[in-house]
Amino acid sequence: MSKKVFVKTYGCQMNVYDSNRMVNALKPHGYEVSETPEDAYLVILNTCHIREKAAEKVYSEIGRLKQTKADMAAEGKNMFIAIAGCVAQAEGAEMMKRAPAVDIVLGPQTYHRLPDMMKSAEEQRAAGRKSSRVLDTEFPADTKFDHLPEESDFKSSAAFLTIQEGCDKFCAFCVVPYTRGAEYSRSIADVVAEAEHMAKNGVVEITLLGQNVNAYHGEGEGDSTEGLAALIRKLAKIEGIGRIRYTTSHPRDMDEDLIAVHRDVPECMPYLHLPVQSGSDNILQAMNRQHTREDYFKIVDQLREECPNLALSSDFIVGFPGETDADFEDTLDLVRRVKYAQAYSFKYSPRPGTPASVIEEQVPEDVKTERLARLQDLLNEHQLEFNEGMVGMEMDVLLEREGKQAGQLLGRSPYLQAVHVDLTKEYNAVDESPDRAYNGYMGKLVRVKIAEAGPRSLKGELVSVLP
Ligand code: 5AD
Ligand code: SF4
Repeated sequence: MSKKVFVKTYGCQMNVYDSNRMVNALKPHGYEVSETPEDAYLVILNTCHIREKAAEKVYSEIGRLKQTKADMAAEGKNMFIAIAGCVAQAEGAEMMKRAPAVDIVLGPQTYHRLPDMMKSAEEQRAAGRKSSRVLDTEFPADTKFDHLPEESDFKSSAAFLTIQEGCDKFCAFCVVPYTRGAEYSRSIADVVAEAEHMAKNGVVEITLLGQNVNAYHGEGEGDSTEGLAALIRKLAKIEGIGRIRYTTSHPRDMDEDLIAVHRDVPECMPYLHLPVQSGSDNILQAMNRQHTREDYFKIVDQLREECPNLALSSDFIVGFPGETDADFEDTLDLVRRVKYAQAYSFKYSPRPGTPASVIEEQVPEDVKTERLARLQDLLNEHQLEFNEGMVGMEMDVLLEREGKQAGQLLGRSPYLQAVHVDLTKEYNAVDESPDRAYNGYMGKLVRVKIAEAGPRSLKGELVSVLP
């Protein structure tokens, strides 16, 4: 009988990718995916450490699972709990101590060993040990990418592909260099092979993932390493790959070659997430971002010169320790100058173990709240303006899933906007049940004329299906 595995994924797209890889590592060992934790043989929480009180939230989730585990045990059923991801990495042995219901704690670099860890946990439990404990949060020399089997069942025509992990930048507020470890890039050949496999299985759009994706330097031919620009040029040649995106980039690694890719490679989408965090030189320096606001403007100007329709996105932190009103005004000024198509913004919150968390001059909560609201008003205004500018235009949309309303499919524009496409007319014309008719459009790149724009999405009508 197959064993059910339920995975709950928190945080970034890299975790989504990792969760799929964990499931794929387990499948050959008789596991199948379950949609709920109840009745699951193995529950995995793939955790994220970036948001505030992340660890506390994981502990309370474990508290709930503990009850499910006890209920199942009362019925004579086995359940194992594994905690993966960045909180597991950061907490490690502490989590083992504090949460006895947890059977396995594994860090982001050891997913390929999960089937072995399960075996060991099962053996311990079968031997009658009260608790079966496995802890594996090393940064091993062999990488998980060398071991994990390939996914074959892609749910969407848009997929993530992790090409790089870890970070050596040590921004003062960030836990990533501690939880994900040093920068590591997969080889060009490895990434190309995975992308070819994806294309053969119906994937049209690939988003290359990495905490510092544009610092990518994968082993190429001979002893040389090649950067992200060279990788994108190679991936663009794969038959079936129509769109390439990459995230997240650091301004320091935005080199000329990569900027030229936006100009020269049509498959490289005109959208770039380039976090700046703050518009104040003082704060950028205190954050250890290793660039000034002027450096950032230069990159943006250059990008827009080579790729005039490029949509930019960013992350911002307000209320970093020591941020004054004048610093914050500099951030608003930067936003006005760059005009983002969309952005994420957060109040600074201290992460244990990071240099910024021990700076004494913390900004009061009410000041952070007020600054965040002002920043978000401005960002929202720009985002709506950007979206409204699309009305009347025709653009390519990759239809990825069913919309909320019947007869509607949801896709993404080249600029990553969500686009609802109403296909009721088309369905009626072919007199097919929506389910069958969906198949004609789902996963396809279509030409759409934009009819309406809102703050978060667009609506459009089908013009044609692209070959
Ligand atoms: N406080 C607030 N926001 C943070 N981020 C990372 N660490 C913190 C923190 N300590 C934000 C940054 C980053 C995004 C992924 O999360 O803006 O780019
Ligand atoms: Fe964190 Fe990004 Fe800075 Fe690296 S570059 S430390 S991942 S914010």
